Amino acid sequence: MHVSPPPLHTHLLRWYDSRTREMPWRNHPDPYAVWVSEIMLQQTQVETVKGKGYFTRFMSAFPTVAQLAAAPQQAVLKAWEGLGYYTRARNLQKAAQRIVAQGGGLPDTSGGWAELPGVGPYTAAAIASISFGETAPVVDGNVARVFARYLGWPDDFRKSPPREKLAAWLLPFIRKSKRPGDFNQAMMDLGATCCTPRTPLCAECPLRKNCFAFREGKQSAYPVKPEKKALPTRRMVAAYVADNKGRVLLTQRVGEKLLGGLWELPTVEVTHKPSPRDAARALREKTGLTAVGAKRKGGVVAHTFSHFKLELHVYAVSGVTGVLDKKRPPPARFAPPETLPLTTATRRVIGL
Ligand code: ADE
Repeated sequence: MHVSPPPLHTHLLRWYDSRTREMPWRNHPDPYAVWVSEIMLQQTQVETVKGKGYFTRFMSAFPTVAQLAAAPQQAVLKAWEGLGYYTRARNLQKAAQRIVAQGGGLPDTSGGWAELPGVGPYTAAAIASISFGETAPVVDGNVARVFARYLGWPDDFRKSPPREKLAAWLLPFIRKSKRPGDFNQAMMDLGATCCTPRTPLCAECPLRKNCFAFREGKQSAYPVKPEKKALPTRRMVAAYVADNKGRVLLTQRVGEKLLGGLWELPTVEVTHKPSPRDAARALREKTGLTAVGAKRKGGVVAHTFSHFKLELHVYAVSGVTGVLDKKRPPPARFAPPETLPLTTATRRVIGL
C-alpha cells in the first residue's frame, strides 16, 4: 500500500512542537507585546532580544500602548540603546501615538497593521497570524532562504515579487495548518536556527526529504544572490572632552534619519587624513567651544551600517574655553555618559 508522506505544514509543526521555545513574547497573547517583539526581531537576532533582556525590559518600562505613546522619546531610545536601527523605536512610538489618537484600539487584521509606520507586509503578517490566527504567510529573509533551497527557486528574494510568489505558494499550507501563528514562527525559527546562511544543519531539518538543495547538495547556491556592491567608507573625527567629575561633552543628533535623537561626541566628517585641527573644528562647529590642542585617543573605531562603513577617529582635546550656549543647535551638554542614549560607536569610544 502506498502511504503518502505528511505534508509540509505537518513536518514543520511537529518540529516546532518538539523544541523548547522559551521566548518571553510567546507567552503574551497581548497583540501589543507581539507587535513590540516583532519590531525588535525584524533586524535583531532572537538571542539578543531574548538573552540580553531587551524585550522584557521594554515591556516593563512601557507595559501598554498608552504608556509607550506618552513616554519621552529619550526614554524609548534609551530602552532601545544597543539594538541598532533606531528608526524602529521612533516608528514604534509614532505608531503608538497614532493608535492612541484614534481611540487606543490595536488593529486586528494584517491590513490594519500594515498601515502603521514601521510595519511592513511581513511584520503585519507575523503580528496578525500570531495574535489573531490570520492565515497570512510571513516571508522574511529567513523564510525566503528556507524555501529558496527547498524549492530550488533562483529568484532574488530581496525583491517583493518573488516574496509575494512564495507567500502565495505557502498559503494552502498555512490554511491547512490550523495554527497560522505557529506555522509562521516555525518557518522563521527553522531559518534562524537550522537552515542557516552558511552551514545549514540539514541532518536536523524536518524538510530535508523533499528539499531540492539538500538532494542536489547545493545548499550554498541558494538563495541566489546578485553581486553586492562594496559599501563606501565615511571618515569622521570626534572631539573628546571630559570634566573633572567624569562628565563627557556630548551633542545630540537632531533631525537626522540615521541615529536621530541619540547622543555622540562632537563630530565632523572629513575626506582627508584626519588631524588634530579637525577635532578642534568638530568642537567649534558643534558646541561653539574652542580648543588649543588635541591628541589621538585610542585606535580607529570601525562600525558598519547598512549602507556605509564608519571610520571614527577620536582626539582628546585640551585647553578648552568658552561656555555652552543653550540656544545654539545642536543640543550640547556635559553629562555622565550612561544617562543618555548613545550611539554604539560613542559607547565604544567611552568604554561603556
Ligand atoms: N523573527 C521575526 N519574528 C519572529 C518570531 N516571532 N519568532 C522567531 N523569529 C522571528
